[in-house]
This record gives sequence, C-alpha cells and structure tokens, in this order.
Amino acid sequence: MSVSLQKDSRLASPAIVAEGLERLGYIASPSVATSVYVSAALEKPLLVEGPAGVGKTELAKALAQYLQKPLIRLQCYEGLDEARALYEWKYGKQLLYVQLLKDKIAELTAGTKTLEQALAVIHAQDELFFSRDFLEPRPLLQSLQVPGGAVLLVDEVDKADPEFEALLLEVLSDFQVSIPELGTIVATEKPLVVLTSNRVREMGDALRRRCLHLYLNFPDAALEERIVAAQVPQCTARLRAQLVAFVHGLRKLDLRKLPAVSETIDWARTLVLLHADQLAWDLVQDTLNVLLKFQEDAEQVHHQGLRLVQEACRDGPHAAALR
Ligand SMILES: Nc1ncnc2c1ncn2[C@@H]1O[C@H](COP(=O)(O)OP(=O)(O)O)[C@@H](O)[C@H]1O
Ligand SMILES: [Mg+2]
Repeated sequence: MSVSLQKDSRLASPAIVAEGLERLGYIASPSVATSVYVSAALEKPLLVEGPAGVGKTELAKALAQYLQKPLIRLQCYEGLDEARALYEWKYGKQLLYVQLLKDKIAELTAGTKTLEQALAVIHAQDELFFSRDFLEPRPLLQSLQVPGGAVLLVDEVDKADPEFEALLLEVLSDFQVSIPELGTIVATEKPLVVLTSNRVREMGDALRRRCLHLYLNFPDAALEERIVAAQVPQCTARLRAQLVAFVHGLRKLDLRKLPAVSETIDWARTLVLLHADQLAWDLVQDTLNVLLKFQEDAEQVHHQGLRLVQEACRDGPHAAALR
C-alpha cells in the first residue's frame, strides 16, 4: 500500500496534525485529527458529513494552510457539470484564432474540390486547436496539476446531482483525467481530498466506499470552549464557559435551526463587543438574533431563556447574583 504522504513530517501522527491545526486556530478533536492522518497516509479522500456550521469547510482550509499547499475549492450546486468541474475548451479563444488565421485556413483549403476534402484538411489541424493552449482546467483537473500537490475541497457535494458522483469517483479512483482529444492527464502529485456534505441528499455507496468517512457533530462543551478561546481570545474564561453552556442548553430544545459552532463564535464576538464578561438574561435577549435564525425559535427561547441562563451560570462564581 502506498503511504507516500507519511513522508511529510507534518502528517506524522494525529497529535502532530492536531497541534499544527491548533496553531492556526482550528481545534481538531482526536477523531478529526486521526481521520486527517489516516486519510493522508492511505491517500483516501475524506468525506466529512454533519450539520452546517460545525467546521467541515474550515477543516480543509486549515489543512491547506497548515501544509502550505494551495486550496482548490469546488463548490457544488445543482446542475454542476463536467465543464465547470473538470475542464472545458476555451471556445472563445478557439474562435478568435480561427478568425485571425482565416487567410491561412483559406490557403490550406484552396486546392480542395469538395466539402469533404476541405473538412479533411481542417480536421488534420484538430490537434492545434485542441491542445493544452486551449484547455481551461477546472478545479478537479487543476488539483492534479499543482506541482507539490494541493488540497482539493469538494464542498457540499450533496448539492450536486447524483450523476456528478460518477464523475467524482472516476477522478478520485485513479487521480487521472482522460481527455479524448488530448489523452490522459495523470496527477503530478495526488491532492489531499476533503469532501463535505450537509446530508441534504445521501451520498451513493460507491463514493462512500471510496472515501474515509468522518461525522462531525456539534462539539462537546470542553471542545467548543477551546474553539471559542482560539477564535475569540478576548472573551474571558467565565463568559466563555457560560455562553457555551447556554448554547448547549439551546441545542437540547426542539428548534427549527440549532445554533452551530459558527453561531457560538459570532455570539462570543458580539458579547465581547458589548463589553460583557458574564451572561445575563437581558444581554441574552438583546443578542439572541445572533444565535437563532427563525422567529419561532426566538419565541420559544424567550419562554425558557431565563432558566437556560441560570443553568448556564449555575456553577459560575457569580451565580447567586444572577438568580
Ligand atoms: N473546530 C473548529 N476550530 C475552529 N473554528 C471552527 C471549528 N469548527 C467551526 N469553526 C468555525 O465555525 C465557522 C463555520 O465553520 P464551517 O467550516 O464554515 O462550517 P461547515 O462547513 O461545517 O458548515 C468557521 O468560521 C470556523 O472558523
Ligand atoms: Mg461548509
């Protein structure tokens, strides 16, 4: 089995990966760090699934930054096709060149008598117009051509059509792309591949089998506090513990949209901006729109918010003052 990437000392163990990502502000749980390590060592794409806002996309970005490799991102959407994902011919340039070479082409076809003969003469020049000069590589192909390798992020792959998976599988199985007019382009160095999915649609079995699977859920409180500490260092330890506890309380409610890590971070930033150093119910009420995105969720929380604030602050040093 090929283990070429293990030669890279930055990927020598899950602990080294976790440390490296943490230096850049990305806090990886042991299971995330292990998955990255194994994915790199086995050269298997990493399929990261989970709710929105838990750090799936950010993981790929942090990884690229950590490895000092370019991040090549393919954002998936309905209708994404080969021309946008893999490559297309520079049609405009081809047309322009044909225009500019009009006289030359006329010279070439001058001696021909029939349309078939003229076509045959032009056909013989195909490879001039279907050469690398006229090829527009899109992210999947680009990621194979980066000297020194890249990190390829196929983001929100569940938004693309099921047929797109077949194309992905083809590229990710052999890390090569066959272009009928040009031949096969093989990766100079295999990219590290991260696919993300919010599970709007289930991935097919074949793609799942090809990938190493990682489910990224909302973090536990200790991990989320570390994330807030890394992202919002101005937030005091007490406020951090209280706001994370409050968010964890919210996630136990039956809300239409549970606040994710991104909302926790935004909320921490908001509270710091308001010079808060501990939670209080009026402060929570005034800033709830940072955490909750639907009016019905906000109304539900208004009924239970005071209790959640009290619970979040219960073990804190100023608990009595809040009751
Ligand atoms: N483990 C983490 N460490 C640091 N920041 C994180 C972590 N998880 C999430 N975040 C932050 O949360 C935000 C949302 O993350 P993102 O990767 O866009 O979510 P997803 O792709 O899962 O929807 C980002 O701004 C990121 O900085
Ligand atoms: Mg994302």
